[in-house]
Amino acid sequence: MSIACYTLPMSGHPPQKDPAPRNRSITLTDTELKSYQAKLLEPDTSDTPLPLEPLIDRTILADTLSILPRLPEHSIDLVFADPPYNLTKSFNQRTHTAQSLEDYERWLRIWLPDLARILRPSGSLYVCGDWRSSAALHRVLNDHFTVRSRITWEREKGRGSRRNWKNASEDIWFATCSGQYTFNVDQVKLKRRVRAPYRTDNGQPKDWQAEAQGKFRVTYPSNVWTDLTVPFWSMPENTEHPTQKPEKLLAKVLLASSNPGDLVFDPFLGSGTTSVVASKLDRHYIGIEIDPTYACLAEKRLAIAQTDRRIQGYTDGVFWERNSKRKKRRHD
Ligand SMILES: C[S@@+](CC[C@H](N)C(=O)[O-])C[C@H]1O[C@@H](n2cnc3c(N)ncnc32)[C@H](O)[C@@H]1O
Repeated sequence: MSIACYTLPMSGHPPQKDPAPRNRSITLTDTELKSYQAKLLEPDTSDTPLPLEPLIDRTILADTLSILPRLPEHSIDLVFADPPYNLTKSFNQRTHTAQSLEDYERWLRIWLPDLARILRPSGSLYVCGDWRSSAALHRVLNDHFTVRSRITWEREKGRGSRRNWKNASEDIWFATCSGQYTFNVDQVKLKRRVRAPYRTDNGQPKDWQAEAQGKFRVTYPSNVWTDLTVPFWSMPENTEHPTQKPEKLLAKVLLASSNPGDLVFDPFLGSGTTSVVASKLDRHYIGIEIDPTYACLAEKRLAIAQTDRRIQGYTDGVFWERNSKRKKRRHD
């Protein structure tokens, strides 16, 4: 069982006719496409095991389903998997077709269990989905991992509906291979504006600090993420990939569930967000993407990350609640 797709020859994105002046999206010229394609790793199509070392810090242009069984066991510290959801959606030259939940579950069972083999016993796994695919994801994960949480990301963008609730959330399942796993909670606390600044009996701030921009509290992160927008065209990380994840989301995942020097793997790399954030946070990475244009976009973003390590929304080691840095208006 595989998700239906068709293939056409590789091409770059059509040139934008009139990009808006503030459009900072990363695009590829034909020359860049050629030079970044030369950097991609294209393993042979045999089924012989692949040694780990030559794959580290590389983008692999291939079908994940054919590479995964060839990866060495217990070699990866953290997996972030953002597979095509069970929707009819085009990714450049391939179209994924919605199928029954049972068929989607069968497809998950082809590749997801292998992640338990390649992860270290102390490893963690995050898998993205939406409400349609979540039941299947939970069942498959539960069979092979310890499921620890389901994060709900309120991603704001969504199509309004007259006969249903607008779908503006995504699920990110968090699972581990054992009870021994990395969770650096202090690195992913959220800095939020204090609405009710209580004081202790002797007048000291209770769990908050006064700063030039207002009163803030650093809080434990919950599994409801409301502080992340999808990348949009005026953000420097944006590409034309239709389902690009924000770098800030990956920063939370990588900081919480890996340490510098660890190896992070993304089997559905898309525009490269996981590898880019791994590189910015001093982790090693391996990413697999089937579409050559997206794989080249990932390479271009990795090249940019060599000199620009900023992650929008994550400054000086702090995750700010959305809009909390904005100055308060007098009538607020
Ligand atoms: C949901 S997107 C991932 C987006 C990514 N997280 C990002 O930030 O850009 C899924 C990606 O998986 C790729 N893909 C689909 N089937 C694949 C396969 N069998 N092997 C490798 N990549 C695949 C698609 O081309 C698409 O870019």
